[in-house]
Amino acid sequence: MKVPATTKNRTERAQEVIARCRALAKFSEDANSLRRTFLSESMHDCHAAIAGWLKPLGISATIDSAGNLRGFYPGADSAAPRLLIGSHLDTVPNAGFYDGMLGVVLAIALLEELDGKRLPFGIEVVGFSEEEGVRFGVPFIGSRALVGRIDEELLGHQDRNGITVRGAIQKFGLDDKRINEAALGDDVLSYVEFHIEQGPVLEKLERQLGVVEAIVGQTRLVLRFCGKANHSGTTPMDTRHDALAGAAEWMVAVEARAKVIPGLVATVGFIEAKPGATNVIPGEVRLTLDTRHRFDETRSVAIREFTGFAEEIAEKRGLFLQRNTLLEQNAIVLNSFLADQIEEAVRKSGCEPHRMTSGAGHDAMILAERIPSAMVFLRSPGGVSHDPAESVLLEDVACAIDCGVHLLKQLAQTREFLGRICRA
Ligand code: HGY
Ligand code: MN
Ligand code: MN
Repeated sequence: MKVPATTKNRTERAQEVIARCRALAKFSEDANSLRRTFLSESMHDCHAAIAGWLKPLGISATIDSAGNLRGFYPGADSAAPRLLIGSHLDTVPNAGFYDGMLGVVLAIALLEELDGKRLPFGIEVVGFSEEEGVRFGVPFIGSRALVGRIDEELLGHQDRNGITVRGAIQKFGLDDKRINEAALGDDVLSYVEFHIEQGPVLEKLERQLGVVEAIVGQTRLVLRFCGKANHSGTTPMDTRHDALAGAAEWMVAVEARAKVIPGLVATVGFIEAKPGATNVIPGEVRLTLDTRHRFDETRSVAIREFTGFAEEIAEKRGLFLQRNTLLEQNAIVLNSFLADQIEEAVRKSGCEPHRMTSGAGHDAMILAERIPSAMVFLRSPGGVSHDPAESVLLEDVACAIDCGVHLLKQLAQTREFLGRICRA
């Protein structure tokens, strides 16, 4: 028999959130670390566990055709509009246990806090299927389905085994022809996402919760430098067309430039040299570049500079250069009304709020194209994320639950929330 939230004390409820995040971490494609990518087999187990937590709330979870887990808790009036609360369920390789999952588990904890009470609006819990972009190189597949931005080009992207997005949807047992049904209806008021900060800011300021005002824009490129493979022992240095040496020279030039542009970050996260033998000069290198900045113009200028460096280096070294854009996502400002409401809720939770910009991308930046969206950050101890050392503090989770309870109460009392934010 499920113990209603109210009989658990504040610490126990926070402990349960952390325990559930850790429980979901067991569902992985890798034996000794967490990797759960778009519609992998392990996502079935993840969905089943979450569906089990939603069931006692009278919610039967569904999986839409983009692989998003959806669970609806109706308002007092079953036709009432809805508030979405959620985050993503996919992870990076060798991931931490809280990036994404925490937002879904906290959404469930807030429903448990309601303890059967109905609000003037419904609440839909959403667990997005793909935010990181690990399997297909393209992020936000799940949230793009909700805003109707899935197209043939996206469905045709292939993973390393040649399986397309469309094929992965079919293999997972979903109907790719119904993907449009995943799109939001006209009854959605807003989207709120709880997420770890994934950076050092809140810890440095000794704050527990952050109010996210904006999310930086990002460009994800894949580049190929093609040179000439040859024998490492017999080929004189001055006759080589070494693709990896060219890529290395480019990476150092990008890093040096990025360091002097305030607020810009540029990362080569993936590099692959072929044929990849000790005694063969690399003939081909494929690598990715992730570049981010709060202002889109600054980011575009930097991208033009970085690609200019690549062309110069390729020219100088007699390499062929190919460049492909995987993602071009502009920075977004989140909804100020909701940010104000979150700031008030954070204060009521006894925490000093900090308003900030997110350096990490989030599904909220996709949802914000269609509906008013907002984010609450929890402090990241050590500023660590995308690594098993990623963690949260029990007290911060408890504050986040308190903040969410206050936020729901505020929105339920702010008639304008229902009227003002409802889309026409
Ligand atoms: O890459 C990001 O910013 C996010 O963690 N997906
Ligand atoms: Mn992430
Ligand atoms: Mn995330």
